[in-house]
This record gives sequence, structure tokens and C-alpha cells, in this order.
Amino acid sequence: MDDYLKDTIKKRAKAQHATLIDIRRHLHMHPELSFQEFNTAKFIAKTLKEMNIALQEGVANTGLVALIKGKNPDKATVALRADIDALPIHEANEVPYKSKNEGVMHACGHDVHTASLIGVAKLLNGLKEEFEGTIKLIFQPAEEKNPGGAIGVIQAGVLEQPKPTSIMGQHVNPNIPVGKIGFVKGIMLGSADELYLTVTGKGGHAASPQLAVDPILIAAQIIVSLQQIMSRNCNPIVPSVLSLCHIQGGETTNVIPKAVQISGTFRTTDERWRREAHQKMKTLASGVAKAMGGDCTLDINQGYPCLNNDLALTQRSRASAIAFLGAEKVVDMELSMWAEDFAYYAQQIPGCFYYLGVKNEAHDIGPCLHTPTFDIDERVLETGPGVMAWLAIQELAVHTR
Ligand code: NI
Repeated sequence: MDDYLKDTIKKRAKAQHATLIDIRRHLHMHPELSFQEFNTAKFIAKTLKEMNIALQEGVANTGLVALIKGKNPDKATVALRADIDALPIHEANEVPYKSKNEGVMHACGHDVHTASLIGVAKLLNGLKEEFEGTIKLIFQPAEEKNPGGAIGVIQAGVLEQPKPTSIMGQHVNPNIPVGKIGFVKGIMLGSADELYLTVTGKGGHAASPQLAVDPILIAAQIIVSLQQIMSRNCNPIVPSVLSLCHIQGGETTNVIPKAVQISGTFRTTDERWRREAHQKMKTLASGVAKAMGGDCTLDINQGYPCLNNDLALTQRSRASAIAFLGAEKVVDMELSMWAEDFAYYAQQIPGCFYYLGVKNEAHDIGPCLHTPTFDIDERVLETGPGVMAWLAIQELAVHTR
């Protein structure tokens, strides 16, 4: 039974590969920014309607939710999620499917995630007699922009009626060769908060510092002090990183400016330490500035929480993936400090987020995500839908047995 299903999925995933390449290229050529995915949503809706799949549009503005019902649809539900938005980046690739929307680019592979989920819809829709339960497909807007689309999707009630027992999502990974997928057990990605510091002093002539309060010197002390919080206050076994990536202050060589702006990102994997660190950074930045005669405010724009993969679900998915792809195609990956709003779903119900390999060294495909030259090996459009359809059916079987 399983062998028949496995072979059927593989065969059909291969047969629909060329169509999915077309779909991915269409999405890639017409990328849209977070919460502006109007045409993307229309395109997804049109494609699903052509397959006679019931769907709800306008979820969290530009999202869509579709249901595919197998036999005994009320027995259990599994949710699958793809993000659909693009980034404000000018594409530098000279490819036939280069972005036609100037300054906007699918540089994080969300075109692949969306095309893959459409492929999953196609596969599952043709296999309704082969599984019990319901598959809920979530096409989520605005993953790239804080506060993210996942919160809105959850608030719209998508994790209710029917309530999924678990949720899975996939993300391209340019460090993994195409054809392989990667799992992380437990904590997979960090939380990510944006920090905005404003240091104020008193401007003056560079030759008379005694009459001024130099915010540049204060800023330097604050930067060093904040890094010391990471090394002295954080439990060494808790991953934690502070990167201050932007600093601006002053115009010329002989004028002490009035203020300095610093901004950066703070990421960790422990929610309690996260809150504690926010407080410590605020207190220290302000204290250092005051001790030096100036002032400092720290505004924190809270981003996504850390993404914690459910251990049992991840274990099951990994085993199912090995059964489908073979052990040599399934790799174990380590925690990384990227961030993803899939984390919000995984806070509500057991979640498993896994990586899809897109690297092709021979063709020099696979530079970093979020760069103007990011691209993928399109063979992933066979692996991605096939494995996800298989994982969803296997997971439903656990809950409908
Ligand atoms: Ni992404």
C-alpha cells in the first residue's frame, strides 16, 4: 500500500515537474512585497480553482487557505504552509525568468515554497481516495516583514475548524545540495529583535571637548558594554548574538555632533533570556550614557520568536522522509540564527519546519538567501512537492489509524 502510494507520488511529481517550473518562473517574474501580494494571491486562487479545490481568499489580507478532503475528512487535519511574499532587492541574475517588478525579487525562495505547495495540492487532490482526513493548505502573506503574516493568519482562525493536529512547512536552503532535505530536531531558528539606539550628547567644536558631551565616545562605550552583556550575563549554553550593523553620527572632522544613531539585531533561543536581555541592554545603555553626561534610549522592535520544532513530529517526518527519499538524501542540520514567523504556528500546535536543498555546485547555483544573485536548482520542484505530499499523508495516517 505504502509502496504503491510512494511510487504514485514519485511518478506524478515527476510528471508535473515542468508545469511547476512554469509556475515558479511566473511567480519569480512577478514578485510582490509583503502584504501587497494581490496578483500572487489571484494567481494561486486561479490555479487551485482550475483543480476544483475549495478555498478561502483574503485571509490576513492577501493569504489563502484551501482544504483537500480525503476519506473520512473529519477524522484529523494536517496543515501545510508556504509563504508567498518577496523582498525589496534588485535582481542581478540574467535569466529568462528575471524579475519584471523593478526592485522586488524572490530572493528567499518563497516562489519555490508557493509553487511547491501548489504542486502538493495537485498531488493530494489526485490521491483523495488514498488517505483519510483533511489537508489544510496555508498560503501565507508577509513572512519577510515584521510583525509577519502568520499572526494574522492565526487570528483569522486558520488553526481552528478544522483544527490541525500538526503543521509543516519547508524552506529552501542553499547550503544543501538539490534533491536532499534537512531536519533540525527541537530549536531550529532564533528569535530576532530589531534594536534602535539614539545616543544624545551636546555638540561643539572638536578642539573644545570640555564644552561638549561627545555622543560618539558614548556610543563606542555603549557598543562595547552591550557586547559584554552577551558574554557575561547570558548562560553560555544559550545561543545569543548581538550584531550592531548600522551607526551614524557626525558630518565632518572637526565638529562634535549632537547625536548618534545605532541599530542592529539581537537573536537568541530562550524566551526568558530574551526578555531579560532587553531590560539589561536598556538599563546599561542608558546608564553608560548618563554616567558620561549624555543620554541614550533603546527602542526594541520585537520580531519573531524562536522556532521550536516538535520533537515527536520531527522524528516521524524525518523517518517518513527517509522512507520516501532514502537515507542518503536526508541530512541533519544544526540550529541557525535566521528567523521565521512559522515559529508562531509552532507555538500553537506541533510544528515541523524543514529545509529543501537547492544548491548545485557544478552550475554555481546557491549563493546566500536575500542576495541579488540568489537562485535555485529547479529540480527542487520535483523533490519539494513529492516529499511534502508524502509527509502529509503519513502524518494523517498517524492520527486517523
Ligand atoms: Ni524565507
